[in-house]
Amino acid sequence: MKLIHERVFSLLLSLAVADGVAVAARQKSTKPVPMQTSGAQSSATLKENKIARGRYLAEEVARCPDCHTPRDSNGTLDRSRWLEGAPIWIMPTQSKEAWAMHAPALASFPYSDQQAQDILERGIGANGISIQPPMHAYHLHHADAMAIIVYLRSLSQANR
Ligand code: HEC
Repeated sequence: MKLIHERVFSLLLSLAVADGVAVAARQKSTKPVPMQTSGAQSSATLKENKIARGRYLAEEVARCPDCHTPRDSNGTLDRSRWLEGAPIWIMPTQSKEAWAMHAPALASFPYSDQQAQDILERGIGANGISIQPPMHAYHLHHADAMAIIVYLRSLSQANR
């Protein structure tokens, strides 16, 4: 019985080791993750990584397009007008004093670094007062806010 236990244990151990080797091999083969700052990378690659990370944060984490992109008649986000500003499509179930009815264009990105950081890191609008709901009062980490800003600026450059 003890022998069987030992055999099973050593089999599991060898499987775990093999799996570890496979994981290490997979990690080696993947592309560098966005924001990695190895000296060997060119500044163009670093910028591309930052844009990719900003896009991921904006589209999949903070979901900026949900409000800042217009929708078609089916309610689907209109890819051809990505982040070009949109009427607000959600309403509070209880009355709120402040409720903005329009989300401005982000693709043209008319904000300075300071304004954009106030908006994304402190919840303070370009007019110096608190951002109105339904825009979230984000308190993003500086590096995340900057990645989003770089991504949004890349859209305005693409439009030119
Ligand atoms: C739930 C809807 C919603 C989401 C999600 C959202 N916004 Fe907004 N955003 C708004 C609304 C509404 C306004 C207008 C707020 C106001 O007038 O104070 C706004 C305003 C802004 C402004 C202009 C602020 C100013 O002071 O002029 C910027 C810049 C902005 N959003 C960027 C973003 C970014 C970047 C994201 C994602 C990280 C995002 N928003 C996510 C709804 C949203």
